[in-house]
Amino acid sequence: MADTINNNDKAILTLPGHEPVALPIVRGTAGDPAIDITSDLRKNTGYVSLDYGYHNTASCQSAITYLDGEKGILLYRGYPVEELAEKSRFIDVAYLLINGHMPNKQERLEWSSLLNRHSLIHEDMRHFFSHFPDGAHPMAILSAMVVSLSAFYPEVSQNALGTEAINIAATRLLSKVRTIAAFSYKKSIGEPVVHPRHDLRYCANFLNMMFSSPVAPYEFKREVIRALNTVLIVHADHEQNCSTSAVRAVGSAHVNLYAAVAAGICALWGPLHGGANQKVVEMFEDILARGETARQAIERIKREKKLLFGFGHRIYKTYDPRAKIVKKSCMELLDKMHIDDPLLATMLEMEELATHDDYFLSRHLYPNVDFYSGVVYRAIGIPKEMFTVMFALGRLPGWIAHWMEALDDPRFKLQRPRQVYVGPSLRHLTDDECYYGDQMKV
Ligand code: CMC
Repeated sequence: MADTINNNDKAILTLPGHEPVALPIVRGTAGDPAIDITSDLRKNTGYVSLDYGYHNTASCQSAITYLDGEKGILLYRGYPVEELAEKSRFIDVAYLLINGHMPNKQERLEWSSLLNRHSLIHEDMRHFFSHFPDGAHPMAILSAMVVSLSAFYPEVSQNALGTEAINIAATRLLSKVRTIAAFSYKKSIGEPVVHPRHDLRYCANFLNMMFSSPVAPYEFKREVIRALNTVLIVHADHEQNCSTSAVRAVGSAHVNLYAAVAAGICALWGPLHGGANQKVVEMFEDILARGETARQAIERIKREKKLLFGFGHRIYKTYDPRAKIVKKSCMELLDKMHIDDPLLATMLEMEELATHDDYFLSRHLYPNVDFYSGVVYRAIGIPKEMFTVMFALGRLPGWIAHWMEALDDPRFKLQRPRQVYVGPSLRHLTDDECYYGDQMKV
């Protein structure tokens, strides 16, 4: 955990009928300072704070990821995401997020071998896949399978939170979710599953499980593996986003890691969060099917006050740095593979129009990470129903790192917000409303 710079600054809060209250100011190593109301506000004043959507509220102190939404900066453990995307592999970034430092040569070998060791899923779990209905959304399958891991690997289920048990659970998740994701795809297309191989690295192994078949082995392409590493890296963490907050909130009840991560997967599925990547491609397919130009589509979205999926972000009020990385990776991949994706030209035109249109500019709406990621996945051959699963695979290290950090934080508590009650005042049941009374109804 990063040190808090405590210089005994206080914020003075004046409320009607109360003596002024001095509240501690907490300064991190970067970013906005916070007024700490944890212990003093309600106790000393009887007031609570109200902050819909947590626009102004920090829920914890964290040393994992820093992001500056005004400047478009994103750092994992201090390293710029651009540098990591350019020079690292996804599994090394996963190690960094979980352990706090980049792996050295020895740690890298051990990490790879651990990931390999845990890549198979229990044979009984494999049978689950056959019992989901055809067309089941892969996120429904993924969340169910991840929570099921706690039944098959219960060591961390009973809160046996020893470091070794936690590390094994974390590695198991990273390795097995990749296998589960590929198996759920194979199930959806009615093909036999392809098992993980110890001779392949993380991303290559995933691609092989997805696309190899008994009749045709998968042909590895360096640029595809590179692009997959890049998109997974940019998704790897994003501090207190909706799904990570879900993992922390559910984890605060001391449930096991698998259950907390399954909650994160469910939160991610929503179209305002990770589900936006599928929505973006569906939106552009719809635009092409309507025969609309980019300009007509923009005007319709504005007129009907619809969402331009892949645009906007709670924190970024400028271009999302991840979107820049994904866009570059997307252009390079399509170029190297000689792919002419019909969606891309409209997307580029739409971006150009929207980023010069007052409607979007005045609302600080710019492309986010999901705008171009779908085109990368399409070029790799991943169907749109699997896009959010890909996001989940990328976000896993972040969820795990936050779950671990939270449990290690002596100030971390059961998350239980207050509310401002606006319902009816005290009232009593009328005779007609009673079920049990003088005369028992049958
Ligand atoms: N298209 C059109 N208008 C938008 C959009 C958009 N994508 N996003 C926000 N607005 C409008 C919104 O209607 C509101 O307008 P008005 O002031 O007239 O009422 C204004 O901009 C402010 O929006 P908000 O809803 O208060 O902003 P928020 O911070 O609550 O929402 C968001 C953030 C991501 C939910 C939203 O921008 C959105 O729904 N975007 C589309 C979905 C999307 O791409 N999500 C992926 C986010 S990045 C991946 C991740 O980390 O989750």
